[in-house]
Amino acid sequence: MKKAADILLSGGLVAFPTETVYGLGADAYNSGALVKIFEAKNRPFFDPLIIHIAAIETLEEVADLSVLDEKTKYRLFLLAEKLWPGPLSIILPKSDKIPGVATAGLSTAAIRFPSHETAQNLISLSSGAVAAPSANPFGSLSPTRAEHVMDSLGEKADMILDGGPARIGVESTVIDITGKEIRILRHGGTPKETIESCIGKVFCEDSCEVDTKKSLVSPGQLKSHYAPKTPLLVFNMEEILSLPCKKDTALLFFDNSSRDSWLKERSAHNIHTAVLSACGNVSEAASRLFETLHELDKSGFSGIYAQLAPQKGLGQAINDRLLRACESFKKLP
Ligand code: TXA
Ligand code: MG
Repeated sequence: MKKAADILLSGGLVAFPTETVYGLGADAYNSGALVKIFEAKNRPFFDPLIIHIAAIETLEEVADLSVLDEKTKYRLFLLAEKLWPGPLSIILPKSDKIPGVATAGLSTAAIRFPSHETAQNLISLSSGAVAAPSANPFGSLSPTRAEHVMDSLGEKADMILDGGPARIGVESTVIDITGKEIRILRHGGTPKETIESCIGKVFCEDSCEVDTKKSLVSPGQLKSHYAPKTPLLVFNMEEILSLPCKKDTALLFFDNSSRDSWLKERSAHNIHTAVLSACGNVSEAASRLFETLHELDKSGFSGIYAQLAPQKGLGQAINDRLLRACESFKKLP
């Protein structure tokens, strides 16, 4: 850990586990190091990074809280108190200490206090603020294991810390609390319902209707994202039975009962099927999503047909990722 922290302090890149996905970290106060993140990921400079902290006191170092009105301060207090550390990134006015390259020139920064112990140790042992996007090439599947980072970024990181599989498996929820309405900019590890029980009504773009031209509030809302190399199409349960299935296509079901009813109807036993959660638990399904897509991607199928999850809890994050991964970004006819 000391060695990893020293790499960060001397301007290098360290990939590290968090409870959501693996991140590719650089010292958030060092613009030269930040540039390396964009280069390693082939990430456009207009896509801002998340700043990770490991102590609530650091919030005042990375964000300018003095400009917040009382209502926003109270929302922030509630969220930080109830949902941090955890899979939630909060958009706040950035402090002058954070270089503009970290936030793509925006006056705001996304701040997150992760709960993973290794992440917290690394952040605390280094400068206290670590900028980290997911540790994958821009647009591709996010890494939920150290091996995924090794395979996709390899030598581009000066060190990879292996903390085993990520517990949550989808990225943090990104929320903007500074406006009149509270908005979810990206569905993720903290479900909308959890946030609403904490600070009231929250608005969000419907994943299926995100318009990249209109919506540049969160540049990460670009439609084509989180994509496996294998073409992927999404469907709901009604569409499933009419799917033209070729032998070299894989089917990704949400739960066993969906798979069983499909098998019963189709008696297509020569088609590869995978299931995200046997009993249909959305959290388990989320934790296995990227992992399963990585596996299917490696198996050489010509296509993946994926079933949408129920649109509740972490199901919203699953569907968001599936729809963005969907090759043509349209449901099957
Ligand atoms: O779980 C996570 O959030 C992981 C781990 C490593 O913490 N990180 C992650 O980072 O997913 P990344 O860079 O892949 O996604 C960051 C998202 C993007 O959608 C970006 O547009 C949005 O956060 N974002 C960052 N700063 C923003 C800002 N100032 N305003 C609006 N959106 C912002
Ligand atoms: Mg990412």
